[in-house]
Amino acid sequence: MPAPVLTVTLNPAVDKTIKGPRVKLSAGGKGINVSRALKAMGVRSIATGLAAGASGKFILSELKKEGIKGRFSQVKGLTRTNLTVIDARGRIIRGIQDGPAVARKEFSGFKKKFTALLKGRCYAVFSGANANGLGPSAYAELIGISRKAGVVTVLDTRGEALKRGLRARPDITKPNAEEAEYICGISPRTRGDIRKIMRVFHRKGARTVLLTLGAKGAAASDGERLVFARPPKVLTGNSVGCGDAFLAGFIARRLEGGNLASCLRAATAAGTANAAGMVPGAFKKKDYKWIYSATTLT
Ligand SMILES: Nc1ncnc2c1ncn2[C@@H]1O[C@H](COP(=O)(O)OP(=O)(O)OP(=O)(O)O)[C@@H](O)[C@H]1O
Ligand SMILES: [Mg+2]
Repeated sequence: MPAPVLTVTLNPAVDKTIKGPRVKLSAGGKGINVSRALKAMGVRSIATGLAAGASGKFILSELKKEGIKGRFSQVKGLTRTNLTVIDARGRIIRGIQDGPAVARKEFSGFKKKFTALLKGRCYAVFSGANANGLGPSAYAELIGISRKAGVVTVLDTRGEALKRGLRARPDITKPNAEEAEYICGISPRTRGDIRKIMRVFHRKGARTVLLTLGAKGAAASDGERLVFARPPKVLTGNSVGCGDAFLAGFIARRLEGGNLASCLRAATAAGTANAAGMVPGAFKKKDYKWIYSATTLT
């Protein structure tokens, strides 16, 4: 069976994580994290996007080592390096670098590759920051192409790219609290706030909305049902990429035919299992399993 999921990372990064004396370099970028988390869930995917220079090559070689199929377009410049420093108390400091500027012509080349890669896929996942130079409608364009190909679309980005992307009516979108506030002007403090946020997202074009609230859990709405999930306890490892693992958990369960509540439970467990690990998107199935059984739905 061909890999069911295509993940898209327009602005990948080498992730440099420092915790005490330990330093880890890994292939990063939100779509890549989703691919890694899908692998942890036993789901195959292809990771695509834009890679540049020596750091772009490093990402491709890391993906290969991890057994993730990488099919990136090469662009000019140098893929960025993002820094995560975790202190003894588990507090995180992040340094996010700007990615290379991508030319429209390079993006046209990517769109051809992307269209070919959609063949045989069930899901296309668009994650993370848009690449510099492309303008905020890049994801909207890719969502349009995917819809024509009959592929289910998942959008997880922020700012103007999220706003424009919603207009292209993605099947699934996954804002966190900050992104929800940006789009709706409401901070998700109470269940009433969450209900309002869900309504705004549906009105703006999203079919299924997955709102994640860090250690507090998550909510899912398909316009008819609204379900809440709460993970068992706060784990302190590296919470970067929890949202990416969450999406992987949701998609993995959807591919098995799970309903909204069951998918939300799997998603929450994967997001929380990710918080226990160090590399974004990498988690142990053992952690996932116990967290899954201890996650409560209401
Ligand atoms: N500290 C934590 N403890 C337990 N579970 C967590 C923690 N942080 C996140 N999670 C789990 O991961 C899910 C997604 O987390 P969050 O809302 O932080 O996503 P996010 O902000 O999109 O993260 P990112 O963009 O870094 O991937 C939550 O719904 C929850 O299940
Ligand atoms: Mg996120």
